[in-house]
Amino acid sequence: MADGSWYDADIDRVIVSEEQIRDKTTELAKQVAEDYREVDGVLLVGVLKGAVMFMADFARAMGRHGRSVEMEFMAVSSYGQGATSSGVVRILKDLDRDITGRHVIVVEDIVDSGLTLSWLLRYLASRSAASVEVVALLRKPDAVKVPVSVKYVGFDIPNEFVVGYGLDFAERYRELPYVGVLRPAMYGKV
Ligand code: IMP
Repeated sequence: MADGSWYDADIDRVIVSEEQIRDKTTELAKQVAEDYREVDGVLLVGVLKGAVMFMADFARAMGRHGRSVEMEFMAVSSYGQGATSSGVVRILKDLDRDITGRHVIVVEDIVDSGLTLSWLLRYLASRSAASVEVVALLRKPDAVKVPVSVKYVGFDIPNEFVVGYGLDFAERYRELPYVGVLRPAMYGKV
């Protein structure tokens, strides 16, 4: 729970605690490492900026489970400065290398409408990856309305705007060690 850090005053309630994130990341990495034990050259593709914390922790957890990985990052935008989806996906940063024949695991912070992810999966398939699966730390119920296959999911959370552990509101709160809901008053201030 909240422990007196500066941001705690801005947070209404914690949805997923630091400890829950740590335990779930370990559990997901163990499962993925097991599923990919026969596969050479697993490539994690992290989606900036939101997935940066989860990517870092997930990759290390994979290593602890004896699974080597390589890391790539993409940046796409589907949200503007606010808390609602614009429905537009733009590539801000592309892959740095060819992924032909690679076994790709997309590492996502959150699947909300699923719009970004379904676009990204089509994009990665068009780049001739051998396989593409998704590990997402968080998923909101709306995600089920978009036909997008997320094989590994950490937590299903309520349909509320959350911040922390990589997720921002207007570029703030990414450094929170947990995932929480902002106090409504904060929307007006940022
Ligand atoms: P989607 O396309 O609606 O699934 O959402 C894509 C992106 O929107 C995510 O990768 C996040 O970066 C961002 N996003 C969605 N929901 C939230 C939220 O509750 N808080 C912060 N960012 C979010």
